Amino acid sequence: MRNEYILVKKSKPLTGQVLVSGAKNAALPIMASLILTSGISVLKNVPHLTDIESMVILLQELGALIHADYAAGILTVDTTMVNRWQVSEHLMKKTRASIVVLGPLLARFHRADLAFPGGDAIGARPIDYHLKNFKKMGAVITQESNLISLQAEHLVAQRFVLDYPSVGATQNILMAAVLVPGVSYIVNAAVEPEVIDLINILQKMGAEISIEKSATLKIVGVKTLQSVEYTIMTDRLEAGALLIAAAITGGEISLPNACADDMELFLMKLQEMGHDVRVDEQLGITLKACKNPQTFSFKTAPYPGIATDLQPLMMIAQAVAHGNSEAIETVFENRFLHVPYLQMMGAHMQVLGSHKAVITGVKLLHGAEVEATDIRASCALVLAGLVAEGETKVYGVPHWRRGYESLDEKLRALGAEIDFVQVR
Ligand code: UD1
Repeated sequence: MRNEYILVKKSKPLTGQVLVSGAKNAALPIMASLILTSGISVLKNVPHLTDIESMVILLQELGALIHADYAAGILTVDTTMVNRWQVSEHLMKKTRASIVVLGPLLARFHRADLAFPGGDAIGARPIDYHLKNFKKMGAVITQESNLISLQAEHLVAQRFVLDYPSVGATQNILMAAVLVPGVSYIVNAAVEPEVIDLINILQKMGAEISIEKSATLKIVGVKTLQSVEYTIMTDRLEAGALLIAAAITGGEISLPNACADDMELFLMKLQEMGHDVRVDEQLGITLKACKNPQTFSFKTAPYPGIATDLQPLMMIAQAVAHGNSEAIETVFENRFLHVPYLQMMGAHMQVLGSHKAVITGVKLLHGAEVEATDIRASCALVLAGLVAEGETKVYGVPHWRRGYESLDEKLRALGAEIDFVQVR
């Protein structure tokens, strides 16, 4: 898609206060969870993103009536008429997160017909943990080329032990289990803030879920769930992007509605660089950048580790800090696709194998024409443009639109020069 690019110019220190939008990665599974109810629910703080629009279309295809007021961030969803359990292949391909309708459909209809969501640039992204546990729950699974069909006479409460704390598998199994009679457990569950947000709305609907000991969810099945009004959590990944933008440009910002508990290790890394990062009830998270940031090494891990989605962004901070460092990616197998473009911009970094990059900080990058290959890479390249001499043109704009609600406007409000340019 080279008919549009994001033009970024070298920035002065970014300064000011902005509000962080609702979290896409929480909103998508929460929208899917409404399939478990019959009635009118209201979701607030929903970000206006193409991934959200795709999920709206998917739910409409299943029979939901939806009124979307994107300007106000409100979705009103009536699930009374949801009467289909088949999802078309083109909708499954639009957003990977569509896989989280599997659990709710199985719970509501004991059936689900859909297509594999497929891999993407950052990795193969299989769904074997989801399917293995649905089978354990009693579903019979048939697969024909890319189509997959699940059917169950009865769903049975079980102790589900995950091979890895997969966010998607935890959300899917949880949503299937809440209406299953008896007591289910999910052991080695993901406990990302976005999973907790899903647990919160399910509890508000009437589900009985508790966190038993670290990373074990206990679910006592209930007969029905009620429709609800719910406000989606703020986006820790957008907050991370804004903090890094301020840090690398030598700025000073405050994010009054950002949640520090969701990103403690990340904030600690910014402090280790020398930045003054504070958490305050009124001001939220504030960052005042230091003059000569020292570099840091990190590795991504399931929560409370550093989110894999922050990895490409943190590498920009490493690229322009003083010293040598490492970035280790443990969640996905192909998540350094932004590195060749950063090298084109003058970054000294090298990928060793599939999970490790080594970085030597430089004073400044230089502008170039670069291509984003996924949502988070698009943000990393825009951040790089803020500390690059001259102009940076970031192609792959659809990735940005899938993941960031008006982040360009927020960066502009802080003093950045960033614009969308149409190519004729
Ligand atoms: C992941 C991130 C999540 C992020 C999201 C969007 C983690 C633990 N998860 O969630 O924070 O918001 O991407 O970028 O950081 N896997 C399997 N089989 C499965 C499911 C997963 O092998 O059935 C593997 C994946 O290939 C991956 C790892 O488990 O290597 C984590 O995957 P998972 O947490 O499920 O990914 P997402 O739910 O997409």
